[in-house]
Amino acid sequence: MKFQKVGESLSRELRSGRELWLQLVSIARLVGQCVGWRAVQTYPQGTRSPLLSIAFALPLMLAAPSVVQAAEVKAPGEKPLREYHEHALRHEGNPGRGRALFHDPRTLCMQCHSTDGKGGSTGPDLYSAGDKYSREDLIRSVLEPSATIMMGYSTTIVETRSGERIEGVLKAASDRELVLSGVGNITRRVAREMIKEQRTSPVSIMPSGLQAALSLEEFTDLIAFLETMKQPEMRLANEAGTPAAIQRLSRPIILRTFLDPVHRFDHPVWFQEHPVLDGHFVVAEQTNALLWLLEKRADGDRKTVFANVRKEVFVTETEGLLGVAFHPRFAQNRKYYLMHEFMEGNQRSMIIAERSAREDLRSDLGSPSRPVLKIDIATEVHHGGGIVFGPDGFLYIGMGDSGPQGDPLGHGQDLHSLSGKLLRIDVDRSENGAGYAIPTDNPFFRHPDPAVRREIFAYGLRQPWRFSFDPATGDLWVADVGQDRFEEVGIVRSGENHGWNVYEGFELYSTRHRTEQMAYLPPIVSFRRRHGTSVTGGHVSRADPESTFNGVYICGDFESRRLWGITQRNRTLQVIREIGTSPAKLVAFGQDRRGGLYAVGYDLGMIYKLDMSDAKFEP
Ligand code: HEC
Repeated sequence: MKFQKVGESLSRELRSGRELWLQLVSIARLVGQCVGWRAVQTYPQGTRSPLLSIAFALPLMLAAPSVVQAAEVKAPGEKPLREYHEHALRHEGNPGRGRALFHDPRTLCMQCHSTDGKGGSTGPDLYSAGDKYSREDLIRSVLEPSATIMMGYSTTIVETRSGERIEGVLKAASDRELVLSGVGNITRRVAREMIKEQRTSPVSIMPSGLQAALSLEEFTDLIAFLETMKQPEMRLANEAGTPAAIQRLSRPIILRTFLDPVHRFDHPVWFQEHPVLDGHFVVAEQTNALLWLLEKRADGDRKTVFANVRKEVFVTETEGLLGVAFHPRFAQNRKYYLMHEFMEGNQRSMIIAERSAREDLRSDLGSPSRPVLKIDIATEVHHGGGIVFGPDGFLYIGMGDSGPQGDPLGHGQDLHSLSGKLLRIDVDRSENGAGYAIPTDNPFFRHPDPAVRREIFAYGLRQPWRFSFDPATGDLWVADVGQDRFEEVGIVRSGENHGWNVYEGFELYSTRHRTEQMAYLPPIVSFRRRHGTSVTGGHVSRADPESTFNGVYICGDFESRRLWGITQRNRTLQVIREIGTSPAKLVAFGQDRRGGLYAVGYDLGMIYKLDMSDAKFEP
């Protein structure tokens, strides 16, 4: 469950494995469904003609007998998953033979996956599976596909008004239609007005039981092949910003438990010292949509509810309350802001809401929120989540590309859309019936095309989950969660295009939305998969001018739980070090009023203080 940045790897659902037999029957059903004439009748109104449908289904027809046969010949449980698991762990396997098996129609892998952009795209590209996963995790991914489902690749089930049921991975979503991709990469378009019900299934479209067609040795070879899928070394020009190895400090930062463990939080996503009350901190819980006031006292920690906004927030495992910002004049006007998901009918949106605190500033007033900005979104991924007041007093909003994976509609590059952007608004004024005004020095304020959104501050972003300003220089550091290959950290300035989905990191991702003569700004660092899978932005350390960490940008990775320190010159990487490890999944960083830094542990519900007293940042 990661929510939105939370996104990527966060969003994995746990589910117990099913009976092998049932699974095999379901594969047979799935295959049957695709090869049958029904498919030919139902798919043509999509992107393919009936003939093409048959051509597409052909490899499946060939594959079907062996799979179905496997289902019939092997009694359920005859060769338990455990045997495959243990064999693949204990034996090395032959990656060359594994590669052949991956491409063998018998395994079906190529129906849904590519390793070089040339196979199916129903499932994720496995180009760097060996960087991303340990051998054990790879084995699990294949034996129990539904145990963890990769964010953005869950199965969408649509029931139409004509009573048809369509399953697939959501590939595109517009106001008019959804595009679902199923086995064999067959796409299906469904008009929105035809949809009676739409839901997300806890079962991966990747069938379990695929190993049944393989001997123990063959399965092991397949895993050995996946393990070799690692990112190749890159062109020298990009090497500097995409380090192959990141040296660990000999004296790393220590993350110290900041709370009495009895006060653990439930999926915390945001933490900061209270802007006025000394020794008080505020924590946001994503799925409870609760804000807590945490008081550090000599006789122990105390926690009381600051605000409960559960009634206004749409919550799923990956959605809910994502970000908080106190107004710079909170002490006087008592206003603060939330960013959260919202659902009305079938329409999802992201909301920026304004709320007010009571006079004592210890809790919320309890009146309904004032909606400031609402952004409609079509899928359950990449909703951004960060809101921060800049040194200029304007509210900056990190808005993701709003999915699906790969940003097929090119929201990141589209100045008519608020998705895939950093936005900048003035919450102190309202104009044109909106709940906010547009700062007149926003970069597109005078754009000749009236449909270009004036709220945009910078674009070409994918999922800018957490960002912050360096209080000394004003630099705006943004950590952008990556697609298949790279996580990015960069400094963003007004009007800039940071590349997504034309670029991912320093590398070309897609030419579909590319514009000639466009300046695409590269990041300062792009992390390879071996370092992490979901970057979490932090802060430039400014607490102690004497510290070796003074001026070092500190960030980390949700999954690998590593913390990094980064310095730059002219937005080129100078030094990067691994500076510590978080005990829990690193979902956000927080700050106290003196600039002391904290890490928020999502799964363990713990807050950690970064203790730099014995650490040394060595360039
Ligand atoms: C019907 C389509 C389909 C088939 C066939 C299929 N997969 Fe998948 N696979 C998916 C989807 C969708 C996901 C992502 C959802 C999930 O995590 O289960 C996935 C996830 C994975 C992952 C995890 C990737 C990640 O980055 O999280 C691995 C590894 C994998 N598949 C390997 C295989 C192998 C090996 C085969 C052949 C034996 C195979 N798959 C067959 C659809 C498929």
